[in-house]
Parts: sequence; C-alpha cells; structure tokens
Amino acid sequence: MVEMLRMEHISKRFGSFYANRDVSLSIREGEVHTLLGENGAGKSTLMNILVGLYQPTGGKILHRGREVRINCPRDAAGLGIGMVHQHFMLVEAMTALENVVLGVKGESPLLSRSADRARIGALSERYGLDVELDSPVRELSIGAQQRVEILKALYRGADLLVLDEPTAVLTDPEVERLFDVMRSLTAEGKSAVFISHKMREVMRISDRITVLRAGKSVATVEVGRASAQSLANLMIGHEFVESVYEKAKAPGEEVMRLADVSLHPSLKHGGLRDVSLTLRRGEILGVAGIDGNGQSQLARVITGLEAPEGGTVVAPDGPVSVFSPEAFIEAGMADIPEDRNAMGLVGDMSVAENLVLKKTDSKRFSYARGAWLKTGAIRAFAEEMREKNDIRCVSVGQAARSLSGGNQQKVILARELYGNPSILVAVYPTRGLDVSATNFVHDVMISERDNGCAIILISADFDEVLKLSDRIIVLFEGRVMGTYPGKGAPVKEISLAMAGK
Ligand SMILES: Nc1ncnc2c1ncn2[C@@H]1O[C@H](COP(=O)(O)OP(=O)(O)OP(=O)(O)O)[C@@H](O)[C@H]1O
Ligand SMILES: [Mg+2]
Repeated sequence: MVEMLRMEHISKRFGSFYANRDVSLSIREGEVHTLLGENGAGKSTLMNILVGLYQPTGGKILHRGREVRINCPRDAAGLGIGMVHQHFMLVEAMTALENVVLGVKGESPLLSRSADRARIGALSERYGLDVELDSPVRELSIGAQQRVEILKALYRGADLLVLDEPTAVLTDPEVERLFDVMRSLTAEGKSAVFISHKMREVMRISDRITVLRAGKSVATVEVGRASAQSLANLMIGHEFVESVYEKAKAPGEEVMRLADVSLHPSLKHGGLRDVSLTLRRGEILGVAGIDGNGQSQLARVITGLEAPEGGTVVAPDGPVSVFSPEAFIEAGMADIPEDRNAMGLVGDMSVAENLVLKKTDSKRFSYARGAWLKTGAIRAFAEEMREKNDIRCVSVGQAARSLSGGNQQKVILARELYGNPSILVAVYPTRGLDVSATNFVHDVMISERDNGCAIILISADFDEVLKLSDRIIVLFEGRVMGTYPGKGAPVKEISLAMAGK
C-alpha cells in the first residue's frame, strides 16, 4: 500500500492552547481515512494545516516521501490536496462554473470558457457530480453546492480530498450520492479524508480511522477491527454509555396549537399545507421527515419569523398570527435554530456576549436596559454556563466563531435552555455534535420535558426522533402524513410515510 501523505508530530498552538499536539497521520493511496474525535478535538485545525490555511507550530508534512512546506491553499492545490470545508466557501452570486474556475489561471478568458466547460463536464460525468453549471450558487441545493466544492477541488487536480463533515448538512439520499462519488474517487487511487460524527456512516465508508482526543492522535485502526462502541470509547477516553429514556408519563395541557396552517402551499419543497398539530406540557413532539419537506417553514411559523398565509396559530396567550421573534422570546419560548451561523450566534461577539444575547435588557446584566452592561456579572454567568454545558473554549472572552462547530452549538443550547423555557423549538439540535455531546443534549431535553417544557423536535435523524419523542408526526411535501405514538412507534409505517406513502 503506497503512502500518499504523512503528517508527523504536528502541533498547533493558539495563544497558550494546543489545538493539535504531536499528531501523526498517514494517508494511503486509494483509501478513505476518517478523522474521528469529540467536538474541539482538533480535526478541522489539522486539516486546515494540511491545506495551508494555518501554519503548524511544530512538526512536518511529507508528500510521497518528500518533505513539503504548505504555506497557502495554492501550495496545497499544487500537491493535489483539496478541501471541502465545514462551512462552504463559495461565492453565492456567481455561477457554479465561475466558482469552479475561480482563481485558476487561464489563457484568453473567452477561449478558455468552452474548454473549462468541457473539462468540468468530463469531471462531473466521471465522478457522478452533476450540477447546473450556469445557475448561481445561491439557487443550488446544499447537496449541489457541495458537489461544486468537490468539482472545484478536482478541477485543480486534487488526488487527496478532505471532506470536513460533509454529511452534516445532507439528506440521506444525498449522503448515498456522496458516498458513490467517494468510492469512484478511491477506485482510481485517489484518497479522501472524511470527518463525521455519525458512527454508522464512519463504519460504512472508512478504510481506516484515526481518533483524535484533546488535540492528540490516540489510535489509527482498520475499520474491520473497530466497532462504534470501541471508537466512541477511544474518542472520549473512557467507556461511552448511551442514555436510555422512558417516554413521558402523562403529558399536560395544551400550550400551543396549529390549525390548518399553510404557507406557500403551492411549493412542493418549502411550503406547508394544512398543517395541524398540538404541543403539550411535558411532552416531546417529534417531527420526522426527509429534509426539505417543510421542516424549516414549520419552525419559522412556530417561532414567529413568518406569518402563515392560512390557518391559525394559538399560543398560550391567544392567537399568534401577529407573533414576532420578540414576542416569542417574551413568551418564554426557546429556539435552537437550524442555521447556527446565520441565526444562532453572532460570530464576532464573544462566547459570553452570545450567552446573554437575549438577556441584555435584564437588570442582572445591565444597569440601564441594554446599555451599560455589567461585564462582571456577564462573565460570571458565562463561566457558569461554560462549566455546566462543557463548552470547550480557551476563554469566554473568545470570539464565538473561533469555537469548534459543536461547541458553537453548545453555546446556543446553553443560552436557550437556561431559565426553564415553557416551549422549546429544537431544529436539528444535535447536528454536528459528537456522540457524547449528543447524549448530553438529549439528557437535557428529556429533563426539560420532565420539568414540564413542551418540546417540538424537528430532526432529519430518524433515530433521534424515535429515541426522544412521545408523539411523532411525519412531514412530507409540507403535509402532515400521520400522527404516531412514540412508545412502540410503528417504525415501518413511519418510514413509508416519510417517503410519501
Ligand atoms: N483561530 C482559533 N483561535 C483560537 N482557538 C481556536 C482557533 N481555531 C480553533 N481553535 C480551538 O481549537 C480547538 C480545536 O478546534 P477544531 O475546530 O479543530 O475542532 P474539531 O475537532 O474540528 O471540532 P468539531 O467536531 O466541533 O468541528 C477548539 O477548542 C477551538 O476552540
Ligand atoms: Mg470541525
């Protein structure tokens, strides 16, 4: 087996904190090599070093046996190393084609355009990466945007493709497509570094797995010699025990009701049609379905971001057609939004500021409603939240955007769940979280439920819905296909409903 690339004794320090410490990693030709580790273990940092976005504090990189210096992404591309980042880096207003060729030197622009098109067409064909090349990127689905990123890397001649949590944002069928692409790449001797928190995927697609823990590489194993349990144990450094929950005993009174709600009903994807549901105290209502069947719209209506075109929303204090996000907060409702970067966090603000984002009007944190913040009180509160929620950061004064993806999610959870919300709207609450953080979030949701919180859980992860829900509804093309009990849920029936049957 030919080694393509080796990272030796790599360290990366931010201030006094080591994100990577003496990490070694070897990638063979034609393999899918998975990086596994808790949120903040240093996976993205290590890969950012590999593609020249960060300079290591120590260690070396060998490419086909020769030591190389990778000072920038262009150097990496020159060595055939490309990366699809956790958050895409496309220019949304430009077309897919323009994004793919962006920054690559061509001859005469007019001449090269048709040559580019032919080359990209050939690449798409070869690896099953079809995209509408002339559509602006912002009009493409997430899956298609990802294919543009992959094409971009391949167009630059990548034979080592780093995929940082590519499946976190994909629907199940899109994951299958991505896996097909990865298999056709490795069949040609190209290699992939794959990052994912979903053990089932990791077990399916990997050849070898390297586990990082707290910045260090702790083991590299062949997939055939590993199990989901053994990998989880390696990741967290002790035996991982997944919680088991009882279903709610006796759900309480109704706190919110949607009756025949519709929103852009003519849209097959992205509309709601005659949706009726009730939320009760002390109960988790799970919304199952394949992504893109109205889940985001449902959350937008319930959180007051969008007024329904038809039907009624009845909240604790009456109908909420005039609901606004402010009223939502005031009603003591909490929200874990789908897109943490756009809606959940202010990246440039500190972790502490993000934790009190919705409370800066309170006496506890300001002397005069929103002005004159009590920085000491905010800091103390933030420290408490950090401790309780195991938010891994160097300091609560650190900018939220410099936290690892999963730790950003923990900041949102900590903020939203503090203060016993009456209703919680949780949209993909564990997306991007590692196994133990996921378990932690589930524990918190169940305990909120047992304290009387009414929770609506919208998730594309069917296992998660089954595990947590007391009642389940299925959304398909904006319609509620059926309501099912969470206890002894009819899995087969629900799966069929998710497919529209
Ligand atoms: N620019 C930075 N400044 C300070 N700290 C940073 C910076 N970038 C990363 N870190 C820290 O380094 C650690 C590793 O982060 P990294 O993003 O590599 O984790 P990860 O393994 O990719 O996690 P996740 O699974 O959540 O994506 C984190 O604790 C993070 O806060
Ligand atoms: Mg990461």
